[in-house]
Amino acid sequence: MKFMNNYNDYVEHSKKITDLNMSMAVLGWDQETKMPKNGSRFRAQQLSTLAEISHELSINKDYGNLLNNLNSDNSLNSDQKRNISLSLKAFNKCKKYKSEFIIKESKLVSNAFQKWRLAKEKNDFSIFESCLTKLVDLRIKECEILGYDNHPYDALLNQYEPGLTTNEVDEIFSNVKEFLVPFIKRISKSNKIDDSFYYQKYSHNKQWDFGIELLKKMEYNFDSGRQDLSTHPFSTHFSPEDTRVTTRIDENNLSEMIWSCIHEGGHALYEQGILSENYGLPLGETISLGIHESQSRLWENNVGRSLEFWKYNYESLKSVFPNQLSNVTIDDFYKAANNVKPSLIRTNADELTYHLHVLIRYEIEKALIEGKIKVKDLPEIWNLKYQEYLGLEVPSDDLGVLQDIHWSHGSFGYFPTYTIGSFYAAQFFNQAKIENPNLLQEIENGNNKNLLNWLRKNIHKNGKRLDANKLCEKISGEKLNFKYFKQYVIKKYSKIYNL
Ligand code: CO
Repeated sequence: MKFMNNYNDYVEHSKKITDLNMSMAVLGWDQETKMPKNGSRFRAQQLSTLAEISHELSINKDYGNLLNNLNSDNSLNSDQKRNISLSLKAFNKCKKYKSEFIIKESKLVSNAFQKWRLAKEKNDFSIFESCLTKLVDLRIKECEILGYDNHPYDALLNQYEPGLTTNEVDEIFSNVKEFLVPFIKRISKSNKIDDSFYYQKYSHNKQWDFGIELLKKMEYNFDSGRQDLSTHPFSTHFSPEDTRVTTRIDENNLSEMIWSCIHEGGHALYEQGILSENYGLPLGETISLGIHESQSRLWENNVGRSLEFWKYNYESLKSVFPNQLSNVTIDDFYKAANNVKPSLIRTNADELTYHLHVLIRYEIEKALIEGKIKVKDLPEIWNLKYQEYLGLEVPSDDLGVLQDIHWSHGSFGYFPTYTIGSFYAAQFFNQAKIENPNLLQEIENGNNKNLLNWLRKNIHKNGKRLDANKLCEKISGEKLNFKYFKQYVIKKYSKIYNL
């Protein structure tokens, strides 16, 4: 490796690390969409070789020295300084992990994933229990390795949402409890919405074509992306010029395709809006999972479940499925898209009860990391919380504590980003409407360009220039505030449910 001594050398090295990581993403995408069954053995090996090289480059000693030197170089401009400071932070974090930890973690995770899948299939938590216990212990150790100011869980949160603290998440969820729990109870006592028309037969190909049309209407650029099918919808990116989405089509459920397409499209628009000139540098990366999720939720919920959006799009949907929707008015369709109904499975939950699912996971994770509860008691604790917050009896663990993949991957601290993403979305969308009073009218006319431009200018093109909380302050004049989500919810659902 050549000797590195200036900012350009840093850029070159940082781009190399990104090239490797993006190549891994291509292989990962292929694995989920196209790869034949027998490809898995060598694919795992190929991915792990690339991960090893990437890690070596990330903790390279000369690179570290260069970062430390450049960090006190006053001739750099503010963007360059920002890049160096974030790269140095990432470097120092990488260095905290001994290779034994990484090896132990990767073995444990791959074993836990197999055990979780089997446990879910057999509906038997005990199969997963000992692996999960080891994973929790590993994460508790990791909190100590990474360090934290107030609460060990802070260290885990920071992996996904830099700067977010357990105290802040506690405050957010106390708002959720105080407002959403009684609000949802009021809705449950009100008139039921009929959404049975979603569950007729809708042909695969017609659904597929309609999903592509939705993405085009959101201004998703198919010259810099594509859509494919996968078991679980996701989005991934290899550069701002190649940002992909996947969807899942259930012929007996129209709603799943529609809103997962819009959701993943929202993620992809964020990645397509990153500036190519910053490829390979922190300023060429998205801020955090919470901000990422704010983009997908803004499109999925604030736009994609609004009456305005469907005033424009419903006729074309109806022309694709004239028989299925012949007796369904736009009002019926809109209400069904916003049907609030407590259910067992997080990924199928509506826009409101969703956050109670996340609240339950957060409370459990925090207590596990604090050592206040034991893994073996999780099924019982889980079921009690579903009774308390959602009023539901959990009939079996595969529909309860075993439903999510996250813990099998060892991901703790991830779930709260889903909820704060929705709250950021409400705050950003509110601000976009203030700055453009015609916004809803534009959406009703099928014009989403100004909204996208607003997101591009205020969020996407800035990459990691600001932390999430600073970005939020810059955009809306204050830090994340639950009141915007609350206002949005009261206005929308009071009307739908005549409250
Ligand atoms: Co998402």
